[in-house]
Amino acid sequence: MKKILAIDDNPANLQLIFAILNADFPDCQVLLSQSGSEGIEIAKRESPDTILLDILMPGMDGFEVCDILKRDIFTQHIPIIMVSAMNDSSIRIKGLNTGADAYMSRPFKREELKAQINVMLRIKFAEDRLRNRNEKLKNLYFELTIAEEKERRKIAEYLHDGLGQTISIASIKLSSIARGELSPAVKKTLDESAELLRNAINESRTLVYDLSPPILYELGLIAAIKWKLDQIEKKIGVITEFRFEENSIALKTDMKILIFRMICELLNNTIKHAGANLITVEIRKNAQSITVKVIDNGKGFDLRQGKALSELGGFGLFSINERLDALQGSMEIDSEPTKGTRITLTVPI
Ligand SMILES: Nc1ncnc2c1ncn2[C@@H]1O[C@H](COP(=O)(O)OP(=O)(O)O)[C@@H](O)[C@H]1O
Ligand SMILES: [Mg+2]
Repeated sequence: MKKILAIDDNPANLQLIFAILNADFPDCQVLLSQSGSEGIEIAKRESPDTILLDILMPGMDGFEVCDILKRDIFTQHIPIIMVSAMNDSSIRIKGLNTGADAYMSRPFKREELKAQINVMLRIKFAEDRLRNRNEKLKNLYFELTIAEEKERRKIAEYLHDGLGQTISIASIKLSSIARGELSPAVKKTLDESAELLRNAINESRTLVYDLSPPILYELGLIAAIKWKLDQIEKKIGVITEFRFEENSIALKTDMKILIFRMICELLNNTIKHAGANLITVEIRKNAQSITVKVIDNGKGFDLRQGKALSELGGFGLFSINERLDALQGSMEIDSEPTKGTRITLTVPI
């Protein structure tokens, strides 16, 4: 059931509004409050769909109430109609600038109140739907990482236990062949085949690690990052630095995976786009959160203030941001052409 909250210190005003709303919005529950501070309490508790707010009230006035409600993440999306006998444009402007969504001066026509509330309910409905979808989308990003990781692990296990074992056995059998009577040509082919199998074993090991590093599960985040940086040094020839505190970072598996994958994404970006010769990863942890920094001395990029991540063209940074948002974390990007890139992720734990 939709709810409308009216806040007004004057009982006669409240009574009138109550009577009108009950008649015009029979499907809505009407809540009343005679003071700003109580009104805020009710708004937090009941999440009304629209608030009618008087301006002149003893104690907390309507501007202050509006300001508090619009700053609070639990109430900021509730449309507010400011109502006052003052019909002065500077008051209207102040009200709207404080965050009110509409302004009505008393005395008003009943029809006007009805129309105005209908507008607010429409806005609220559309916004709720949008927020709801947004929320679902964010959770989806999170779920996606976990689902992807499960698949990766499954394939890695199959590679390791199935294919890897088969090749190993083939390799052992091949090397056990007695070679005394064999012609040089056959011997050569055997040696080449053994070499190919050894390569296949090595490649499948690397693949297993790339897909789902067992280190992450067995030894944790720090060890997995060390391994990843080591790989980058060996394969790409970039110098890496890793700074972290020795105190062991106990994290839930999902969290470990999420953070590890985000770091990998940032490292891949550095390899792909930065042309850097030094990459630094830094991890700090306190009781509330983990802070991860990935810093490179590469060519940087232009992320002007206000430019949305989705406008960069890629999906990597955007999806890191969405995943962090779902966890109430944050990402800060500090980059400028020729000045390198420094990305800071903060993840609450
Ligand atoms: N470390 C970096 N150095 C230079 N440019 C970067 C770096 N990280 C990201 N970028 C720029 O930001 C863009 C968006 O990155 P991202 O969202 O990961 O998408 P993608 O990697 O698929 O292009 C990249 O195309 C690149 O231009
Ligand atoms: Mg990328």
